[in-house]
Amino acid sequence: MSLPVRVSEHPLNRHIYVVELEDGSSKLATLNMVPGKRVYGEKLYNIAGNEYREWVPYRSKLAAAILRGIRSVPLREGDKVLYLGAAAGTTVSHVSDVVGKSGRVYGVEFAPRVMRDFLLVVRDRSNVLPIFADARKPWEYAHLLELVDVLYVDVAQPEQASLTADNAHHFLKPGGKLFFAIKARSIDVTQEPTEVYKREIDTLKRGGFEIIDVVHLEPYDKDHAMVLAEYRG
Ligand SMILES: C[S@@+](CC[C@H](N)C(=O)[O-])C[C@H]1O[C@@H](n2cnc3c(N)ncnc32)[C@H](O)[C@@H]1O
Repeated sequence: MSLPVRVSEHPLNRHIYVVELEDGSSKLATLNMVPGKRVYGEKLYNIAGNEYREWVPYRSKLAAAILRGIRSVPLREGDKVLYLGAAAGTTVSHVSDVVGKSGRVYGVEFAPRVMRDFLLVVRDRSNVLPIFADARKPWEYAHLLELVDVLYVDVAQPEQASLTADNAHHFLKPGGKLFFAIKARSIDVTQEPTEVYKREIDTLKRGGFEIIDVVHLEPYDKDHAMVLAEYRG
């Protein structure tokens, strides 16, 4: 394995890092909140007394969006994040590293088997609250939540845009940001949007969102783009 030689803050976010390796390559990474623990088999790098976890763009659409040049990554230390479609916690774990101990990630997942894996991953992460619930029914977990700064949605369901609008209405601060993973097979989503894609974006706009940026995730993910939007309420 190539050894790490240097680490620097990512230009878009000072809690996301770029680790340079001795072979000249570089990797996206976050500071490991639980040193010594991997979440999905990612590499761990020790540099100057700190441990960083590689953030693998083939496994996490947010990492892919960052490497594909998304305009901004509005996740700050201390932010509260509502994450719909937590799955086994791959991306949640990196968001947890970025917002740090003063932040909080509410991770909603409705598949029992997946939830079991998610619970194991977040056991040691004091800033993650796993919620076993259906994201189409935000009122069922309203008692567990506060207003959040960021909404992250990756449920891979046809009704994703409408449940996003519903959840935003309940929990997202005005001016809050949205990361929305959207199905978009075409290589240039801005030139040949599918009907589904157009419908989803329209639903987001009607739900009070202003689109900031859309990046396609190829070559890391051939099927998706990431939409970044701001909530106008
Ligand atoms: C594409 S995966 C998410 C991957 C994850 N975002 C990551 O990067 O690690 C979609 C997940 O959403 C969950 N899901 C789908 N519909 C849901 C719903 N209505 N409520 C809660 N979770 C849902 C699925 O069970 C699945 O685990």
